[in-house]
This record gives sequence, C-alpha cells and structure tokens, in this order.
Amino acid sequence: MIQVLDKTFEVFITKEELAKEVNALGSLLNEDYKGEEVIFIAVLNGSFMFASDLMKTINLASEISFIKMSSYQGTESSGRVDELIGLKNDLKNKHVVILEDIIDSGITIDKIISLLEMEQPKSVKVCSLLYKPKAFKGKTKPDYVGFSISNAFVVGYGLDYDEKGRNLDAIYQIKK
Ligand code: IMP
Ligand code: MG
Repeated sequence: MIQVLDKTFEVFITKEELAKEVNALGSLLNEDYKGEEVIFIAVLNGSFMFASDLMKTINLASEISFIKMSSYQGTESSGRVDELIGLKNDLKNKHVVILEDIIDSGITIDKIISLLEMEQPKSVKVCSLLYKPKAFKGKTKPDYVGFSISNAFVVGYGLDYDEKGRNLDAIYQIKK
C-alpha cells in the first residue's frame, strides 16, 4: 500500500502486467498499420509514460507529437473555446492514432477528436491504456484499449492524484 496526499492506494496493475499489455498494443498497431505511415498524438500530461513505452515497440514509419488540451474564455458570444496546444505536424491525409492514459467520461477525447478532424486526416483512432466503460458517455469508444477498469480512481504510470503519483511505475487503485 502507498499513500498519495490524503489517500491510500493499493497495487492494481503491476509493472510486469503493464509491460506485457503495452507490448501487445504495440504488436496490434504494427499489424493494423503495416505498410502505412502513422502520426501518434500523445495527450499530455497523463500519457507520457505510456507513450514512451509504447513507441519503443512500434516498427512503423511514424511521427510522435505531444499535445495539451486547453480551454479558455473566448468572446462573450462564443463562450468557452477549446484549443489544442503543441500540434505542429501536418495531419492532412495522414493516419492519426491518439494516445491517452485513460478515458473516463469521454468528454476530453471527443473534443480532441473534433479538433484534430479539422486538420483533415485520413483516419483518426484512439488508443487508451485505461478505459472506464461504466463512466463513458462520449460519442467515440476507444479503438484500442489496454485495460477496461471499474470506476474507482487510479494513479501511477503517468496518472495523477492532484498532480502527485505520476512517477509510480505501476498503477494503483484507491483503497475503499
Ligand atoms: P474524461 O474527459 O472524463 O474522459 O476525463 C479524462 C481525464 O480525466 C483523464 O485524461 C485524466 O486526466 C482524468 N481521470 C479520469 N479518471 C482518472 C483516474 O482514475 N485517475 C487519474 N485521472 C483520471
Ligand atoms: Mg489525461
């Protein structure tokens, strides 16, 4: 058991299980995109560790770029405006695979997909290490999922609790 701020967590997915599943996802992507060029787009901050380990297993002609979602107050008429920060690659007619740490309600990924689609890629797929199907209310289910999990809160391997715990090499679940 470990303590992160005021909460107690216990090991949920070990580093060995993570390595095995990340390798399996990499093999699947190598197979599905064989002979194609892929632009991987990793969503910061949570996906940094997953993206780093996954990319080492990829043997495709590929690029990787890291983005952040930002939401700011636009003019009064437009309300809140979502924006992607950090995207420099030309996505036009390219296959895009978004790398996420976790998909919970699906709101974030829906916004990211609609912003990326404005760049007219050939295809957009989502690869998420973790997925909470019971919490999902979004439009697009992830195409590639490492682990489908319950709604309980998790930290580690890039995921945070109030910015803490991202450095943990396994995934820990909150203890009831
Ligand atoms: P969504 O828009 O509800 O799918 O939220 C996705 C974001 O919520 C993720 O990118 C995480 O930053 C955060 N999140 C959701 N569930 C967890 C969790 O169990 N642990 C840590 N962060 C989480
Ligand atoms: Mg995230």
